[in-house]
Amino acid sequence: MIEKIAFITGAGSGIGREIARVLVSKSMKVIVADINLNNAEETVSILRDEGGEAAAVYCDVTTLESVQEAVKESLSLYGSIDVLVNNAGWDKIEPFIESEPSTWKRVIDINLMGQIHTTKEILPIMMENGSGKVINISSDSARVGSSGEAVYSAAKGGIIAFTKTIAREMAKHNINANCVAPGPSDTPLFAEIGSYNKGITKALEKAIPFRRLAKPTDIANAVGYFASPEADYVTGQTLSVNGGLTMV
Ligand SMILES: NC(=O)c1ccc[n+]([C@@H]2O[C@H](COP(=O)([O-])OP(=O)(O)OC[C@H]3O[C@@H](n4cnc5c(N)ncnc54)[C@H](O)[C@@H]3O)[C@@H](O)[C@H]2O)c1
Repeated sequence: MIEKIAFITGAGSGIGREIARVLVSKSMKVIVADINLNNAEETVSILRDEGGEAAAVYCDVTTLESVQEAVKESLSLYGSIDVLVNNAGWDKIEPFIESEPSTWKRVIDINLMGQIHTTKEILPIMMENGSGKVINISSDSARVGSSGEAVYSAAKGGIIAFTKTIAREMAKHNINANCVAPGPSDTPLFAEIGSYNKGITKALEKAIPFRRLAKPTDIANAVGYFASPEADYVTGQTLSVNGGLTMV
């Protein structure tokens, strides 16, 4: 079996770290690309303890130059990239009417431009290989809206539209592009959101049919599916993983 190489952004924490664990369990080598190199190294040591092969690479997805450097470093380590998981993300919860342009820019740069940058740099490698999988982490807020997350929802909605077009353009190269849209998930990012909105976790646990937030593994398993040969005929799709909170 030829070992696949996965490049995962934001894999130093939360959902990204679990995605790395799931892909390692599927015998992939993993590049943990994150702006927080300490956290990325921590993920790598967890993966190595579990018998996986992984490397940490500094990457700030908001600049094309940083992504170019990270991809160059990854190629010098592992020689190729077969799977791209665009997971790095950030949000600040506040009513749109109170939000500032500097926050909009940061939200769009990380959540939307970041995925565009990595996709631009990594697709040519997959085209050369004649195959590849792109999995973009969106959000249920893109599908149904979410109070306090107007610009974030717009960026995540952009990801869904971007993914569909990439899926159409890349099918002839045997490259699949799909989205996973997490519902509220128990991660450091959500904890930050919870610190602004104290009652949010309890309210969500009441509203979610499965009566709990998503665990990072719930989301990571969906990514594992899209990265696998079982999903070879699936492209341009968005899978919500949300315990039934929304059904669209
Ligand atoms: N937690 C949730 O409830 C939830 C819900 C829907 C969608 N999501 C999405 O899931 C993804 C993972 O979120 P999480 O909850 O695990 O968050 P998290 O904060 O735990 O992890 C995000 C990771 O992204 C990295 N990152 C941030 N800015 C970066 C940059 N400029 N370049 C590279 N890396 C950067 C961080 O260092 C961190 O390691 C995000 O795209 C998020 O929008 C999360």
